[in-house]
Amino acid sequence: MVKICCIGAGYVGGPTMAVIALKCPSIEVAVVDISVPRINAWNSDQLPIYEPGLEEVVKQCRGKNLFFSTDVEKHVREANIVFVSVNTPTKTQGLGAGKAADLTYWESAARMIADVSKSDKIVVEKSTVPVKTAEAIEKILMHNSRGINFQILSNPEFLAEGTAINDLFKPDRVLIGGRETPEGMKAIKALKDVYAHWVPEDRILCTNLWSAEVSKLAANAFLAQRISSVNAMSALCEATGADVSQVSHAIGFDSRIGPKFLNASVGFGGSCFQKDILNLVYICECNGLPEVANYWKQVIKVNDYQKTRFVNRVVSSMFNTVSGKKIAILGFAFKKDTGDTRETPAIDVCKGLMGDKARLSIYDPQVPQEHIQRDLQMNKFDWDHPIHLQPTSPSTINQVIVASDAYEATKDSHGVCILTEWDEFKNLDYQKIYNNMQKPAFVFDGRNILDVEKLRKIGFIVYSIGKPLDKWLKDMPAVA
Ligand code: NAI
Repeated sequence: MVKICCIGAGYVGGPTMAVIALKCPSIEVAVVDISVPRINAWNSDQLPIYEPGLEEVVKQCRGKNLFFSTDVEKHVREANIVFVSVNTPTKTQGLGAGKAADLTYWESAARMIADVSKSDKIVVEKSTVPVKTAEAIEKILMHNSRGINFQILSNPEFLAEGTAINDLFKPDRVLIGGRETPEGMKAIKALKDVYAHWVPEDRILCTNLWSAEVSKLAANAFLAQRISSVNAMSALCEATGADVSQVSHAIGFDSRIGPKFLNASVGFGGSCFQKDILNLVYICECNGLPEVANYWKQVIKVNDYQKTRFVNRVVSSMFNTVSGKKIAILGFAFKKDTGDTRETPAIDVCKGLMGDKARLSIYDPQVPQEHIQRDLQMNKFDWDHPIHLQPTSPSTINQVIVASDAYEATKDSHGVCILTEWDEFKNLDYQKIYNNMQKPAFVFDGRNILDVEKLRKIGFIVYSIGKPLDKWLKDMPAVA
């Protein structure tokens, strides 16, 4: 029987392995983690992450051929294939701080694999890693292997949070990179056989190791670049009276461009885009390619610009100050259908408004109060280090209250900011919300999900990213 062990029971390790277990009943899958609360949650009715469809998949296989455990060494020792899906955050200190990937967690996992293994293994990079990481991992494993043969494969994950289960059931492609040696090809075939249980063969792409590693960084860079491109256009639309939704629609009809990923917004977030682009920038710099590094750096700069622009728009619209004013924040997760707040634009927007002394009342259907308080107190890049994965009880920020629904959050507020595109925000009773707000009442739609004309008829002053501005907003000072 093939035995798989996955080190790292996070947003990638958990769902990916649950789907492998579901689709391959003949394979035993163990997901292991050093975080006891995380593993306890995977073994409970309250899974540690919210992801549509995940619970059903886990319930079907848990205890049969899917196991969650903290006994990392035992399961690694017994496995033929070991996936490593630990976090690869941005370094916060030392060489490359603020850019390079911190491979501490990866290296410690690799050393542990070498220490406990008693039989040959295929070690699969599931985490997103800098190109050439496989070479470093190979060295660690080979120098500590005591004659055991390890084959390293790169099998980056392309799932998107919020649609992870669907993405795993029907992936656009599965990418497997390996050494172009007979042993390497054999390892590629073994992993291909796992995916072939449910993924059509023509969607399983096999490359060399470095192409697979670069492809993951390239894919995230291209996706983020699309968002920054349309966001850059949104600023131009506001300045000229064009409507960014109409522009996206028009350019998306070009089959070379395509319609997806062209929604203007307050900016991209999530654990990957910024981290992976910073990592790409660092790799380019280290390889003597400053022009390429600067090109990709601009994607992040535009994203930061978009968040700052949003905050400035809120403040300037409300007579150039939000000091002491109650601002309702609807949505804190980095996108809908997830409770994940890593690098969510809401953090920067909230911090920006707090910097101008606003009082915030925040509501998100999936993000609990303690996470919101914790995130608003954390330093940049600290979020992806495991200590923060443990539940903590941070002190509360007086300027921030967390509401239990959108009506409570917006009551008596001066303005409402939509920061996540949750479906429930589209169908709120905005007349009721307007009646309970201070006047003039403002709505700042950072996701372009609301019917602007309807809101204006109710009486709101509305700002929607990249849309023609209200006369009120046009008369306010220009936003930089
Ligand atoms: P995560 O932070 O949710 O999970 C990582 C887990 O690894 C944590 O639970 C941590 O406790 C555990 N861990 C760290 N060191 C360990 C060790 N030595 N032994 C056992 N467990 C250990 O991270 P997430 O989001 O699952 O991401 C993992 C990797 O996958 C990252 O490299 C990320 O860039 C990549 N990725 C993430 C995607 C996403 O949507 N979140 C999508 C595609 C790739």
